Amino acid sequence: MTQKPNIALIGCGKMGGAMLRSWVNNSVANKIAVFDPAPPAEDFAGVTFYSDITAFCENAADTNIFIMAVKPQIMADVCTSIKPAVAADALILSIAAGQTISSFEERFGSTQPLIRVMPNTPAAIGKGMSVAVANASASEAQMQQADILLKAVGKIEWVEDEALLNAVTAVSGSGPAYIFHLIEAMAAAGEQAGLSAELSMTLARETVIGSAALAASEPETSAEQLRKNVTSPGGTTQAALDVLMAEKGLTDLMTRAITAAKKRGEELA
Ligand SMILES: NC(=O)c1ccc[n+]([C@@H]2O[C@H](COP(=O)([O-])OP(=O)(O)OC[C@H]3O[C@@H](n4cnc5c(N)ncnc54)[C@H](OP(=O)(O)O)[C@@H]3O)[C@@H](O)[C@H]2O)c1
Repeated sequence: MTQKPNIALIGCGKMGGAMLRSWVNNSVANKIAVFDPAPPAEDFAGVTFYSDITAFCENAADTNIFIMAVKPQIMADVCTSIKPAVAADALILSIAAGQTISSFEERFGSTQPLIRVMPNTPAAIGKGMSVAVANASASEAQMQQADILLKAVGKIEWVEDEALLNAVTAVSGSGPAYIFHLIEAMAAAGEQAGLSAELSMTLARETVIGSAALAASEPETSAEQLRKNVTSPGGTTQAALDVLMAEKGLTDLMTRAITAAKKRGEELA
């Protein structure tokens, strides 16, 4: 049984705040400290907030895991300011997009245990999909502790090749936006078909929500089978799918979209 760690969250914005809520609710840590120049108004029971870096560093000596959740563009400066408080065997867990393990090794040293994670926004409601990669210095126990923290906000997969994180970002990191755009597109098409804007949006939104819940309720059923289950040969659904699947239409479009996101991730890194 892995011992509960003392954790410190650096940056308590949208993603950090969402993770913090789940960690508090699930009692995953022995002690939680947060450093953010403007701590949230929300009351997090048992969490110690610091807006002053000196006070934070003075009290962080027993921290086992530092979770880095600030914007990528200020990450280097923030690492410099917390470095005096980071013990040589403490784990640095970063959720920042595009910030590589080697960039953290340059800041903290190559023997510092490091885990890089790409979460996504459904983590805010405990339905996130995270993918993590560890450096050679992270121990099994530290990976287990990170696994527990990330499972509190959804599902987690581990990969060994950090280069995969650009593709991961393109699929699950950016993916929620594709689904929201699907809702917009279905609603616009429904309007074209004669529905009011309001009714069409309700139908599109609830269809995506219901379909996702159905897929979640049948984890063993493939997406292909779920699709076939609602497609009668020669029926209305088949007529629509003939358009979406003609010459791999939607698959090709999605491939181009995900390739563009992956390329952008590579450029930003
Ligand atoms: N949101 C997402 O969907 C998502 C998905 C995957 C990964 N991420 C990653 O998560 C990280 C945070 O993103 P976010 O969307 O949560 O951003 P955010 O809402 O802007 O949160 C960043 C937080 O850090 C605070 N901060 C600013 N300067 C700081 C400093 N010197 N020390 C400590 N905290 C400081 C910010 O305070 P102020 O607001 O007062 O500046 C803010 O509360 C990013 O690296 C991003 O790449 C986000």
